[in-house]
Amino acid sequence: MTHAAIVTGVSKGLGAALAAALLGRGYAVIGIGRSSAPELTGDAYRFVECDLGVIERIDAAVEPALRALARSSPQSVCLVNNAAVASPVGALGGLDAIEIERSLDVNLTAVAILCNVFLRVFGDESLPRRIINVSSGAAQSTIPGGGLYCVAKAGLEMLTRVLVEDAKAPSLTAITLRPGIIDTPMQVFMRSQPADVLPSVTMFREFHDSGQLVKPEVVAMKIADQLVRAPVEQGRTYNYREL
Ligand SMILES: NC(=O)c1ccc[n+]([C@@H]2O[C@H](COP(=O)([O-])OP(=O)(O)OC[C@H]3O[C@@H](n4cnc5c(N)ncnc54)[C@H](OP(=O)(O)O)[C@@H]3O)[C@@H](O)[C@H]2O)c1
Repeated sequence: MTHAAIVTGVSKGLGAALAAALLGRGYAVIGIGRSSAPELTGDAYRFVECDLGVIERIDAAVEPALRALARSSPQSVCLVNNAAVASPVGALGGLDAIEIERSLDVNLTAVAILCNVFLRVFGDESLPRRIINVSSGAAQSTIPGGGLYCVAKAGLEMLTRVLVEDAKAPSLTAITLRPGIIDTPMQVFMRSQPADVLPSVTMFREFHDSGQLVKPEVVAMKIADQLVRAPVEQGRTYNYREL
């Protein structure tokens, strides 16, 4: 029997690094996303193609793979809701309605849907189950020009609290992670924005220029060892600094 993890957003960035770290630790991993990083291979890895912005298709895309995983009787299972988009940037008043919907769908609605299907499939209370919602300091502090992202991350942190409230057995743990400042395509996107659209762009350029960005592999290793494999405190919001 193996331990298992489900990671969203495995094409690049933190999600790809985390899936690789977990495979390296002997986990069976299901990656969910629009594409999968080429280094994620092997018998222990399964990729489920799913655009998390098309919310009406998520259940049908994901449930069969989760059911197959459940049939393999893993020792434990952990869902890491990692996928997110930083777009659209800009202040309210200048955003496109469809882009608003899509951003909130990927960053929040899809996460609720994935938690829902995860708990439906892995309903066995004797199975240790964990949900890790990857949030951001943006859940607490607004980012000028990045408001929609902040709204979704604040909602995500409440979702963790709701999961804890709804948990019927101590075998289900849910936590939030604010993973720090990571050297990923999301940071490249933020620091390449024009200042009139993203007034906080200087902060993102400063993160880069002052060498504050941490490699995704380093963050992933800490998440794998300290938040996926080790015991965690129910409902807690973990910050990268304390890992
Ligand atoms: N980087 C940071 O400094 C930082 C700081 C705080 C929090 N975070 C959080 O950490 C997590 C990982 O961020 P990251 O920096 O690794 O971001 P990233 O480099 O932009 O990667 C995001 C991942 O999410 C996937 N994704 C986006 N839209 C999707 C969709 N519609 N359907 C399926 N997958 C989709 C992307 O896949 P595609 O290639 O298909 O787009 C990609 O695999 C996010 O939750 C982010 O909010 C990051």
